[in-house]
Amino acid sequence: MNWLLVTAVALVVDASTGLPKDPGWELVRAHCGACHSHAVIRQQRGDHTFWRATIERMQAQHGLWAFDDETHQTIVDYLARAFAVDPDEVGVRRLPLQLSQRNDTGAAEQ
Ligand code: HEC
Repeated sequence: MNWLLVTAVALVVDASTGLPKDPGWELVRAHCGACHSHAVIRQQRGDHTFWRATIERMQAQHGLWAFDDETHQTIVDYLARAFAVDPDEVGVRRLPLQLSQRNDTGAAEQ
């Protein structure tokens, strides 16, 4: 584990979308922000299979347009890297705690 690299990667996040600026992020910005906030994406974690299935669901149920194979693969690779199940392995910041997971707000019971 290279902690310097982890720090550098974690800092380079696009301010308007919250997407880590890793190869492919601009495709995700262009294609995945048209219908909903990028926060919807940032809140999810998954591997290639999860993200491929998510994109297929967007296409089958929500009207997401088709991608050529290269674009599709670049987007899946990006999402599986930037929003992986185990952030410690890929050097992307952790998922923020949900309100219900926090114990400093008094909101846990609400
Ligand atoms: C044509 C519109 C559209 C586009 C483009 C789109 N989505 Fe979605 N997406 C939706 C809708 C509608 C929902 C459901 C929102 C809700 O339930 O409130 C959704 C929900 C989601 C969710 C959360 C719920 C779920 O079903 O998993 C994720 C993750 C997601 N989209 C990822 C993506 C990604 C990644 C892309 C780009 C590859 C993308 N979306 C592009 C329409 C779209």
